[in-house]
Amino acid sequence: MSKKYNRYTVTAALPYANGPLHIGHIAGAYLPADIYVRFQKLLGKDVVFVCGSDEHGAAITLRAKKEGINPQDIVDKYHEINKQAFQDFGIQFDIYDRTSNPMHKETAQEFFKQIHDKGAFFQETREQLYDPKANEFLADRYVTGECPNCGNANADGDQCEKCGSSLNATDLKNPKSSLSGETPVLKDTSHWYLPLGDHEEWLREWIEKGTYEGSQHHNPAEWKNQVIGQCKSWIDGGLGPRAITRDLDWGVKVPLQGADGKVLYVWFDAPIGYISATKTWAEANGKDWEAYWKSDDTKLVHFIGKDNIVFHCIIFPVILKLMGGYVLPDNVPANEFLNLEGDKLSTRRNWAVWLHEYLEEFPGKQDELRYVLASIAPESKDSEFTWKDYQARVNNELVGILGNFVNRALVLTNKNFEGTVPKRGELYDLDKQVIAEIDAIQARIEKNVEVYRFREALAEAMNLARAGNKYLAETEPWKLVKTDPERVGTILNLALQITANLTIALEAFLPHSAEKIRGFVNIEKLEWSKLGSIELLPEGHALSKPSLLFSKIEDQVIEAQIEKLKSNTQNTKVEAEENQEVTIEPAKDICTFDDFMKMDIRVGTILEAEKLKKSNKLLKLLVDTGLDQRTILSGIAKHYSPEEVIGKQVTVLTNLAPRKMMGIESEGMILMGEDSTGKLAFVTPENVISNGGVVR
Ligand code: MF3
Ligand code: ZN
Repeated sequence: MSKKYNRYTVTAALPYANGPLHIGHIAGAYLPADIYVRFQKLLGKDVVFVCGSDEHGAAITLRAKKEGINPQDIVDKYHEINKQAFQDFGIQFDIYDRTSNPMHKETAQEFFKQIHDKGAFFQETREQLYDPKANEFLADRYVTGECPNCGNANADGDQCEKCGSSLNATDLKNPKSSLSGETPVLKDTSHWYLPLGDHEEWLREWIEKGTYEGSQHHNPAEWKNQVIGQCKSWIDGGLGPRAITRDLDWGVKVPLQGADGKVLYVWFDAPIGYISATKTWAEANGKDWEAYWKSDDTKLVHFIGKDNIVFHCIIFPVILKLMGGYVLPDNVPANEFLNLEGDKLSTRRNWAVWLHEYLEEFPGKQDELRYVLASIAPESKDSEFTWKDYQARVNNELVGILGNFVNRALVLTNKNFEGTVPKRGELYDLDKQVIAEIDAIQARIEKNVEVYRFREALAEAMNLARAGNKYLAETEPWKLVKTDPERVGTILNLALQITANLTIALEAFLPHSAEKIRGFVNIEKLEWSKLGSIELLPEGHALSKPSLLFSKIEDQVIEAQIEKLKSNTQNTKVEAEENQEVTIEPAKDICTFDDFMKMDIRVGTILEAEKLKKSNKLLKLLVDTGLDQRTILSGIAKHYSPEEVIGKQVTVLTNLAPRKMMGIESEGMILMGEDSTGKLAFVTPENVISNGGVVR
């Protein structure tokens, strides 16, 4: 049922330029996309691979506010960091653009305008959450609260991470503004809406049956269950209108008269970024962008994480259809989430392995991470990265199988045939078996890549190295060197052909290693169709000196990473506590002058202090009040040690009715300042005053 495609447009979700990338992003979208693209390019296909920074939306402005700097500075900083990290890691985009580019603004406005002029939006004034303290309408992202679907207390205003449902901020129970911590109020504002409900019918057909405008568009059996499942539940739940504009001063301006202060909703403009990036790329490379978006024989594939499904499978397709003439995605192979050491990856808690840090700390080990992440990618369910598993996979598989095989084939050839490919003689059964295995690999990898099963595909490529190892173990050429050099030649010839085949089989997954191996066997990059051939290296071909392909990861390296993770989260905890919002206790009722004068407040000095055995809150103090020396119990033990407070001048309410606590009578109260975070401080006179001095 597969359509004939002549061109590929592959996109990877535009990451928000509000922070660095971690392994969850990589395993979720970028590495699978890169493998897919490298593979298609190896097949000689016409492919454009686009990505770039998503620079709009509340994710950016919120971050800027938190750091107290301009949104522009945030996006400039992270655009560079992320672009560089992708490049260093070997994610080979044809373009890494930015949604702040004029080309994008123009394109996004054109989309809005055309669809608007067709009458496909409606404008409406509705009540929206407004922060009375910050004087701002609250973008969905600025509001948190309880998810109406699953009860998650920390749902974001645009979606609930826990149950995956997409939300409007007004759906949340007990909403809270992220700007001020204030409870938002409802206030009127006018916006443009996209009535998704009008599109329900064709969307259902397209998603469930793969049919579009009366013909077969794609094969729904090739879509992931969870992607179809999420879409269906969306459609079944009824598609309501979505506001596609926002009250913000950061973003693409709504291109209409009288729309001051309104910008396009980031999820309206960002996917259009794929198209503007394609235009920029096409302009720079003498290509026709329209072919990549409007030709029926173009295969459009969106690589994303599962939190982006609805935007790519419902909203963006509706926008493309309304524009007319655009292709719809042939597939949206969204991945699930990657966890880290038993816990959800979290930027906020700094529970993450950051790509740019990994690249710095593990120079030259891109393929080690590519290998591990591709092997454990959450293709059909959530999966987990642990440093121990990383170590085991590198040491046992990359070093133990792949590196070991390549090394043996080369070292034996150097030793026995002066580094040139020996002649292949008569073939035995073991030889024929391994030749059959080499021959089978190509179809197996293709079959898996075709349906986005990269874990399987990589395992098949590695099986070639496994087959090679087994072949050497069974034929034991090192034992035959003295007695049967001709036979040794045949064996090593085949081992070297396998090595050359590995450069093709592994190219899409481990491009840096494939290149290294090509250097060892002294060949240029080979095309995919050559995979399976045992004529890749002619007899007499000179090899180069090999170096080590992979090296073992030592225990202490792994332990240091685990330590780092733990201390990261601890530091963030402290920081979070320091940054805790201070809220002000409401004002109390009026008290008369007489009420106040009833209180006998005096300056005193703490003479003695001790901890109470039975309480971790109370300190037992002996205070000189000028009137007398008396015992006062004070709930400050968690904040002050006895030594710290002895000798301090304090203010004391001396005529408070005595109270018995823990069997001890307390005669008065030490006055303390306390804020909403629980911080405590003594209220002390600015200068020393004689004990017994009155406070009024
Ligand atoms: N910036 C979004 C995120 O990180 C993804 C945008 S994908 C695009 O979740 F399609 F809008 F570009
Ligand atoms: Zn929920």
